[in-house]
Amino acid sequence: MISQKSVQEILDTAKVEEVIEDFVSLKRRGANLIGLCPFHHEKTPSFTVSPSKNLYKCFGCGKAGNAVRFIMDHESMSFPEALRYLAKRYNIEIEETQTSKEHQEERRYLDSLFIVNDYAKAYYQKQLFETDTGKSVGLHYFKERGFREETIQSFGLGYAPAKKDAFTLQATQDGHSLELLKKLGLTSKYGRDFFRGRVMFTLFNLSGKVVGFAGRIMQKDVKAPKYINSPETEVYLKSKFLYGAYQARKSIRRLDECILVEGYTDVISLHQAGIENVVASSGTSLTVDQIGLIKRYTPNVKILYDGDAAGVKAALRGLDLVLEQDLNVRVVLLPQGEDPDSYLQQVGTEAFQEYIEAQARDFIFFKTDLLMEEAAGDPIKKTKLIKDIVSSIARIPDPIKRSLYVKECSVVMKVEESILVDETNRTVTELLRRRHKRRQRGEARNVDQREPALKAVAPEPAEGQGEDDAAPRPSSPAKGLELQEREIVRVLISHAGKMFDAEEGLTVEAYVLSNIEEVIDEFHHEHYRQLVRYCLERTLAQEPLSTQYFVNHRDPNISRLAIDLLQSPYEYSPNWIGLHNLPLQNQLDPEQNFKKDSINVVFMYKIKKADQMMLHNQAEIRQAQDAGDHEQIMRLLRVQQKLSQLRNELAAKFKAVVLK
Ligand code: UTP
Ligand code: MN
Repeated sequence: MISQKSVQEILDTAKVEEVIEDFVSLKRRGANLIGLCPFHHEKTPSFTVSPSKNLYKCFGCGKAGNAVRFIMDHESMSFPEALRYLAKRYNIEIEETQTSKEHQEERRYLDSLFIVNDYAKAYYQKQLFETDTGKSVGLHYFKERGFREETIQSFGLGYAPAKKDAFTLQATQDGHSLELLKKLGLTSKYGRDFFRGRVMFTLFNLSGKVVGFAGRIMQKDVKAPKYINSPETEVYLKSKFLYGAYQARKSIRRLDECILVEGYTDVISLHQAGIENVVASSGTSLTVDQIGLIKRYTPNVKILYDGDAAGVKAALRGLDLVLEQDLNVRVVLLPQGEDPDSYLQQVGTEAFQEYIEAQARDFIFFKTDLLMEEAAGDPIKKTKLIKDIVSSIARIPDPIKRSLYVKECSVVMKVEESILVDETNRTVTELLRRRHKRRQRGEARNVDQREPALKAVAPEPAEGQGEDDAAPRPSSPAKGLELQEREIVRVLISHAGKMFDAEEGLTVEAYVLSNIEEVIDEFHHEHYRQLVRYCLERTLAQEPLSTQYFVNHRDPNISRLAIDLLQSPYEYSPNWIGLHNLPLQNQLDPEQNFKKDSINVVFMYKIKKADQMMLHNQAEIRQAQDAGDHEQIMRLLRVQQKLSQLRNELAAKFKAVVLK
């Protein structure tokens, strides 16, 4: 591992403009440098580099970060790889922590796995291109399938001879240990070649290193399995592997979409036709880790299913997982009996592209349709279907998206919307409850620096008036809170780790979070909500936070948000003074006065939230008046009274504390 000291040294030394200029030509404009963004196509430059802040940001596509992030994104490197790259560029000697013997040995061992795999790849390629059988059998097979020579090269395709130990003999003769050959599954435990008489597919990891192989049998109608694959090793974890990711990564990023297919040959075939943003899950259903891999590049996934209904239904089960990760999933069903490769060869690239664009359907609607067909005229099946769809919808983290789906699906399924809303809410609550339980295992620190709480007065639905009321609800109370939510996040990021109250050992984040803890789930803006949640989890686990922690975070969403917030000019909304009748005379410099800044945002958030709740409540009062529901009116008036009391308390304290 790279020591923290070295990491810091690299971060301190690497000049973002120098690092970027190795790849992008930049021109000076004022204090900044600008150029054409390498992450999206543009004709006028909106890619801005700020040497003083040591950050870059593209105002076209939003990509932003520091030198490390640039290298990670531009060169598709992992965090440590990018650090090593920068260390090399700046001649920084990297200090390795725990360079214990075991560690070094582990490293050497992994390297040796790659070396042997590399050797095997070269061997199979040589067999394919330079031996008579290789050419007449293997190469002939690939060419028959329409693969061009450069494709065969770039995907590392090869040929394994049929003789029982040709490879093993050659490899050991060339000095490779039998032990490693067996470990990698290239040689069986009896010393015979594992891959025999098959065409070979090389499996690359994201940095282009060889982690394993798949061998396809060429004869039809034989008992042996069509493909055999290398066993799992330390460098080949099947659940974390996506075939073609190495060749596809740049295109996925550029097009902001990943096409997912089932087979190796589908990837190769599409790639060759110029559709390069393709990966394969290798015939199994997607895992969380594979989703994570895709998410590093894009949130948009298009899944192409081979045209057989049974397989599709099985595959759909696994997909709820994808929804939970908040990916946008569209699904394309290919014509009966076709897979992407065969269909592409049949209709040509243009028609293929048109087809998948035209047929791509949102995953949930696709699933609904498919199950509806099946359940037609069978009420029991239909009940099950509703539960099934609802459990998919409930997994979508974004509540707005969720309600949209509920609406649409109720139409498609011809079920009253309220029934779906009910079911969905039940499932969402259940999921929340489970998540909350998990969270609670880290006990909250009891902090007594809290401003008056909000949740206590939140209007609750009247008895007998469920959530499924058909009447449209007044506009959501959260909508106007974006600025305040953003401010909370800004304070968390820019003052994290500073001591709010040194005597109490209270950090800024503990102060802010303890004040808003009960309403975090009501944060309207998903990114802010996630970040605040995340801060809470870390704080509860007593793990430290700091500004640099966010800026240099591995999750690009977090570091981007941090950089954005740190870069945006500091200002309070000018309307604040007038709107809220709060004399805000002095602009606080947040760096100088982080404590006041923190108190301030908590107050502003709470006051604004109270205002919103009052507005919301007023609308409900009007509705109750129209309906002549006196009991309801009385109840709402009581809520209104409590809210205004709370708001005044907050405002009074705000004046006393912040403006003194
Ligand atoms: P397919 O049978 O669809 O294969 O299996 P394919 O890739 O389209 O191959 P061709 O076009 O017939 O040559 C899809 C994927 O499932 C895995 C492989 O990853 C394959 O690409 N698979 C399939 C196996 O691992 N073993 C098998 O025996 C079959
Ligand atoms: Mn196929």
